[in-house]
Amino acid sequence: MTESAVFSLDCYSQQVRDSIDRALDAYTIFDRGCPAKLREAIRYSLLAPGKRLRPMLVLMAAESCQGTTEAALPAACAVEMVHTYSLIHDDLPAMDDDDLRRGLPTCHKAHGEAVAILAGDALLTLAFEVLARDIRPASTAAECCAVLARAAGASELVGGQADDLAGEFSAGDLESLESIHRRKTGAMFLASLQLGALVAGANAEQHEALHEYGRRLGLVFQITDDLLDVRGDAAAMGKRAGKDSGRGKLTFPGILGVEKSVHQAETLVREACAALEPLEPHAGGLKALAHYVLQRNH
Ligand code: IPE
Ligand code: IPE
Ligand code: MG
Ligand code: MG
Ligand code: MG
Repeated sequence: MTESAVFSLDCYSQQVRDSIDRALDAYTIFDRGCPAKLREAIRYSLLAPGKRLRPMLVLMAAESCQGTTEAALPAACAVEMVHTYSLIHDDLPAMDDDDLRRGLPTCHKAHGEAVAILAGDALLTLAFEVLARDIRPASTAAECCAVLARAAGASELVGGQADDLAGEFSAGDLESLESIHRRKTGAMFLASLQLGALVAGANAEQHEALHEYGRRLGLVFQITDDLLDVRGDAAAMGKRAGKDSGRGKLTFPGILGVEKSVHQAETLVREACAALEPLEPHAGGLKALAHYVLQRNH
């Protein structure tokens, strides 16, 4: 990756992160019906320093189809709400039983298990309120709701999580591994891109280019997540390392080894960037993001 690509992603991400964080803050003020403890837990996890990759994908996809980031911002927030709910629940004792997330104690460690479960429930629900109310026109809002619900649902994110937790896959093959990763992580990447494209009123060719890019990017992301679990540094990552192998998780380095996993991720990034050709000259942000995902250390 060139230095200018790194630089442009840094600039982009700083400005855009600020606008995403401001919007997430405003969306989680709540009225008096929301108990203070619940509100605190929701905001604790949502406003913690996540990388905001999925909301950035929504905004970059909209831009790559010549839409505005303003119109796509509610969709960007909705995706981050669903993602954060999935992290809160992923960390619960009945799931991955983790104590560190985004550099802080996990939601259930800080706020108790029951409040953490409810904070996740509230974030998942709020995402759809935001889409239904704030995306215009109403027909686009309905499409966005359907896309996000599908990606977060039983055949995608939740199904992937279920198989990820099921020990029987631990001696599995590359195909089962990719199937889990495609559902538990990849589906939300694809949905993020699709939401951005929908808000921008993209045509079929633009949707297709984003789909081909996103399919690969989702896999690259989860390969690097697995690699970081093997060789990453908890302080940089803000979450514990070395947790997959002891739990019988099916991972890329576990099946392919570290070197082949890295090679696979590099190949996928090249293919992902090539798939963006029809969106040029508006795809610079998405290309920079793909390289960032490959090289990230957290
Ligand atoms: C972590 O996602 C969970 C996975 C899907 C592997 P991120 O690495 O994007 O987490 P945040 O949002 O930056 O905390
Ligand atoms: C989490 O995957 C995926 C979702 C939350 C949907 P992981 O369990 O690998 O994520 P980390 O490593 O805890 O962030
Ligand atoms: Mg997990
Ligand atoms: Mg986990
Ligand atoms: Mg992981």
